[in-house]
Amino acid sequence: MTLYVLGRTLTYIVLKKQGKIRCVSKLGCGSMYTPRNGFREREGALQNRPFLKWPGGKTRLLSHLLPLFPDTTLFCEPFLGSGAVFLNTQYKSYRLNDRNADLISLYRLLQEKQENFIDEVAGYFQPKYNDEKQFYLLREKFNKSRSLSMRARLFLYLNRHGFNGLCRYNQSGEFNVPFGRYDKPYFPEKELRFFYQKAQHAEFLCEDFETVLQNLKKQAVVYCDPPYVPASASANFTSYTQFGFSIKQQESLAALGRKLAMKGHTVVISNHDNAITQKLYEGAQLLQVSVPRLIGADPTKRKPINELIAVFGQ
Ligand SMILES: C[S@@+](CC[C@H](N)C(=O)[O-])C[C@H]1O[C@@H](n2cnc3c(N)ncnc32)[C@H](O)[C@@H]1O
Repeated sequence: MTLYVLGRTLTYIVLKKQGKIRCVSKLGCGSMYTPRNGFREREGALQNRPFLKWPGGKTRLLSHLLPLFPDTTLFCEPFLGSGAVFLNTQYKSYRLNDRNADLISLYRLLQEKQENFIDEVAGYFQPKYNDEKQFYLLREKFNKSRSLSMRARLFLYLNRHGFNGLCRYNQSGEFNVPFGRYDKPYFPEKELRFFYQKAQHAEFLCEDFETVLQNLKKQAVVYCDPPYVPASASANFTSYTQFGFSIKQQESLAALGRKLAMKGHTVVISNHDNAITQKLYEGAQLLQVSVPRLIGADPTKRKPINELIAVFGQ
């Protein structure tokens, strides 16, 4: 194992595989500019913000991820979430997927209706709706509604007014996040506008990741951010959809990464850094990254999160 110390705040350990070591990222601390992806801000200061809060969002990893993506025409994200990575890249076309049907339906509607969608959803950000009773009424309305446009508007409302921006469903597929108690939930008008402009070059899919990866024919850069493998027995959040995410699916993703790399695609996967993922991604170039944690009541007790980035191909 070789240790690269590249700056005061960043430490990379590139694990040696089969005698080949490549330091896949040459980042120092401070600002960085990569013309390919247009990310010009200081580390951690995201230029293009997602309009949704999303658990496991990759804002803090961007400065490590972006330099790993080579030039090509198609960028594919099978686990899109809030789109933090998509929004900060520059490719000619995008294939964007998530198994969460509410999320994809919201993106498709915004892509199509643009300013009309923004006008329609703005009404839910009036102070009268920032109220516990109203929140639970609207959550129930969302769970009962079969109208795609109604569900899309309410999904955004629930995301910004619910606890910590969590997205969680019970086994019957009902959204069950409690009220968030924010003074003044932010209406992400600018972010919604940026998203629909960027989405004009995107197709949105709502499939299982395996289907998306198996159907990939055109040469692509693929970024995969699956639900985390458990960091510990008690810390395992995989309820973004009612289906959860198993270790068998993690294995299948790693196997598909290997297979696609042999066909000439570049596949980048991020996950927790632990013994399970180091084994899962054997044979890839591995990059260990320590990112500061933003959530936690007492800032002095927040431990950094250790992430592992695996690169198959290149
Ligand atoms: C860690 S989050 C992705 C976060 C994203 N990178 C961001 O910056 O916001 C994982 C995503 O995988 C999606 N997901 C879960 N199971 C899936 C599956 N079988 N196929 C595709 N997407 C899935 C979840 O809905 C969730 O949005």
